[in-house]
Amino acid sequence: MLELRNLSKQWDHRPLLADVSLNVDSGETVALLGASGSGKSTLLKMVAGLEVPESGSVWFDGADITDLPPERRGFALMFQDFALFPHLNVQDNVAFGLVEQGVEKAAAREQAREMLQRFGLGDHAKARVWTLSGGEQQRVALARALITQPRALLLDEPFSALDATLREQLRNEFRERIEAAGMTAILVTHDELEARAMAQRAWGLVGGRLQPLW
Ligand SMILES: Nc1ncnc2c1ncn2[C@@H]1O[C@H](COP(=O)(O)OP(=O)(O)O)[C@@H](O)[C@H]1O
Ligand SMILES: [Mg+2]
Repeated sequence: MLELRNLSKQWDHRPLLADVSLNVDSGETVALLGASGSGKSTLLKMVAGLEVPESGSVWFDGADITDLPPERRGFALMFQDFALFPHLNVQDNVAFGLVEQGVEKAAAREQAREMLQRFGLGDHAKARVWTLSGGEQQRVALARALITQPRALLLDEPFSALDATLREQLRNEFRERIEAAGMTAILVTHDELEARAMAQRAWGLVGGRLQPLW
């Protein structure tokens, strides 16, 4: 279980996050909804270890990970701007995390190709990432995030750069893939329909505090 305990942070002399606590069960997707500038990304970065809380702590499976660097948390992150590596082809983008973990390159590529097959992208394994459509690039980003079997998946407005039709299609596909992987996930979004389609529970971030939505 992922636990956020009393996380706080000031910005510009105002409380951006005020005593935020949240538990996410393993295998559960929780949505964080809030207006632009409400602190959603800051909160997600604290979970990832990219932002330090002024007070409070982050726990995973009973261990305090507040001071653990991002690469040692075993979490995968996905942002709205796809953040694929432009100099690598599709399969090497997906294989990247495995190679980082010390998997031999040929084996990592093989696993990446299998993953791409499952994602309906098998024909694009050798393609340059910029030749893919926005939706395909987000699929590649999810494949890259899931292939390392992260302990949790952190999604920051993953579809906001895409058009409405594609967003709708991808939310369902992503939910199915996240469920199939048994993944613990936090979805940050300002789109309530997206939250309803993908998350079992949702919280609103208003004035630095979390309010239960459903
Ligand atoms: N390190 C920082 N640098 C600049 N602005 C920051 C920083 N940390 C927080 N902020 C400010 O905090 C507010 C919340 O940002 P953010 O977490 O990105 O909100 P959201 O993701 O909900 O849109 C913004 O107004 C932003 O300018
Ligand atoms: Mg944000």
